[in-house]
Amino acid sequence: MDSIIYIENLWVNISGRDILKGVNLEVPRNVIFAIMGPSGSGKSTLLRALNRILDLYEGLTVKGKIIVDGVDVYDSKTDPSVVRRTVGMVFQIPNPIPNMSIYDNVALGPKINKLAKSRAELDGLVRWALEKAYLWDEVKDRLQTPASKLSGGQQQRLCIARALAMKPKVLLMDEPTSNLDTVATTKIEELIVELKKEVTILIVTHNPFQASRVSDHVAFMYDGQIVETGPTGQIFTRPRNKLTEKYITGKFG
Ligand SMILES: Nc1ncnc2c1ncn2[C@@H]1O[C@H](COP(=O)(O)OP(=O)(O)OP(=O)(O)O)[C@@H](O)[C@H]1O
Ligand SMILES: [Mg+2]
Repeated sequence: MDSIIYIENLWVNISGRDILKGVNLEVPRNVIFAIMGPSGSGKSTLLRALNRILDLYEGLTVKGKIIVDGVDVYDSKTDPSVVRRTVGMVFQIPNPIPNMSIYDNVALGPKINKLAKSRAELDGLVRWALEKAYLWDEVKDRLQTPASKLSGGQQQRLCIARALAMKPKVLLMDEPTSNLDTVATTKIEELIVELKKEVTILIVTHNPFQASRVSDHVAFMYDGQIVETGPTGQIFTRPRNKLTEKYITGKFG
């Protein structure tokens, strides 16, 4: 099978402590892959390894192999900025540049990376990204207003649009709805299901219900390891591991 992500025996050590302990994971193309697990199990660390945002940490050692879309992410010849273009990220707290306009928040990355040949092409790309993020209709008449004027849910969809405008192959989402109400959450869940036609999505969630609603595959992490992974339906109805069962029935985490 031609998967988009292969992780082989990944160890991450920060300041002398092993945070990820031999993670193996394969993610097929154009799926929503949910990562769940209790607090501190290493979910965010795993996501951040994939686009080398981890490089910013002090005292970091990474061992093992990550291949994303054929690129060996930690090979010394690999340019981290190329990895970050292929692998976009959306964070828990919406982080648009607040005093920058809605338009410029989306256009900035493509401008810096010269993804559009003309103003018209850039306009088209911004519109496309905002449409994919289910935000266009709400902002098309006020593209020049600052991002800070948007609601929390709108700001998060703006961040999704900003990531999409870079045409990533993989989109990482670290608890993207944990600061939003149910209406805003539903909208984001709906749009990510649509988005998997364009990108492969890895979503970390604290909420097993969210994982069961949106994902095709699930991995359950515990103490720096992946305990179990499989199709979402199977994990939620017939977990093989006791820890997974405990987690999805709400007994911890
Ligand atoms: N920059 C860092 N320096 C040192 N230790 C870190 C750093 N970031 C994370 N850790 C440690 O790594 C472990 C895993 O953290 P991580 O943030 O990946 O967990 P998580 O599963 O995302 O948890 P949560 O559900 O609370 O977000 C934790 O024990 C944490 O304290
Ligand atoms: Mg986390």
